[in-house]
Amino acid sequence: MKGAFPMKFEPAPLEDWMRLYYFAVDDDIGSSGVEDYSLAELRAMLGIGTDELDAVVFRDSTSFGGEEVRTAIAEQWGTGDPDRVMVTHGGSEAIYLVLSTLLDPADAVVVTEPTYHTHTSIARTMGCELRVWPLRPENGFRPDLADLRAVIDGVKAVVVNFPHNPTGASLTPAQRDELVAMCAEAGAYLVWDQAFREMVVEGEPLADPVHDYEKAISIGTLSKGYGLPGLRVGWAIAPHDVLRGTLDLRDRMTLHLSPLVELLATRVARHAGLLVGPRMDQARRNLGLLRQWAADHAELVHLPEPMGGVTTFPQLLGHTDTTGFCHDLAREHRTLLVPGSCFGDPTRVRLGYGGPTSSFTRGLETLALMGENAHVQN
Ligand SMILES: Cc1ncc(COP(=O)(O)O)c(C=O)c1O
Repeated sequence: MKGAFPMKFEPAPLEDWMRLYYFAVDDDIGSSGVEDYSLAELRAMLGIGTDELDAVVFRDSTSFGGEEVRTAIAEQWGTGDPDRVMVTHGGSEAIYLVLSTLLDPADAVVVTEPTYHTHTSIARTMGCELRVWPLRPENGFRPDLADLRAVIDGVKAVVVNFPHNPTGASLTPAQRDELVAMCAEAGAYLVWDQAFREMVVEGEPLADPVHDYEKAISIGTLSKGYGLPGLRVGWAIAPHDVLRGTLDLRDRMTLHLSPLVELLATRVARHAGLLVGPRMDQARRNLGLLRQWAADHAELVHLPEPMGGVTTFPQLLGHTDTTGFCHDLAREHRTLLVPGSCFGDPTRVRLGYGGPTSSFTRGLETLALMGENAHVQN
């Protein structure tokens, strides 16, 4: 029976790590987001007056999200149809609602490896068969569609996230088209987590498959490129029956969003470029600094070239497990880096370059210093 699975999760090492150190460091070179905005900045950029905030009445919103916010999201990121949009508490809730609704215990699902943890843990916990589409380090984690072709037959869904956390790898537009065609041929849902959609190093964001594939489900968030992780706004753009199905869970969990949050999200969605532009300019400048830093410290680090997002997944040379090193970096030097063990590869670290440039540069200096000391001790 659908929904009768024993929903007991394993701990999520990435979230455990963030709980330990996110609030206990000065310099963050591990996170996957950009510099956060304040409410004052948001109001100034988007022209939100105190009268508009004062006019908010804290009544319930609707289960899928208010008409205005769904319309703004549908027009900015979707097909223009607000009835295909559900507004959620971050992309996290959207992923949970969508996967729990789509999948049954006997289903097979394709996931990339490495990947963001909920893409695998929800399906695994439900008892689904996980089929791996490996993003291979020897190819700089660039996806190879031949690897997907080898596992796609008979699957219920393909779950992807491009640009990809943690590697920064992505698809070319031609590969995106091929992915959509392969899902269509297999009759599989394509769950397209576009958390880092507009965060591309070069060129245009990939076209969202909700525009050209009826079984595509797109998941978005204001937490990454828009610098608003604390607003907790995400969404799913999906076929009506899938959205309707998510209500059984939502009715027992979060019910709906706050009208205040919806007001802010509506305005952000209408002027999304204003927020993301300056943050991506900063991230691209940081990436230039990071490339130079990696070239200057070639004995410490091997940096795969990212295509998007604001993270890369480099190897720290000489480390078979970077976890202890990252603990020391956080505890002794108040610098956050995420050990690759949180993504299943302990020889690597997730390095995030989306933060304020001064703090990012300091974090890299600390990392170099610590790395050189570790080398001397080895
Ligand atoms: C790929 C991906 N999807 C979704 C999320 C969820 O983020 P949020 O719930 O803050 O929107 C994250 C967060 O790191 C992520 O990396």
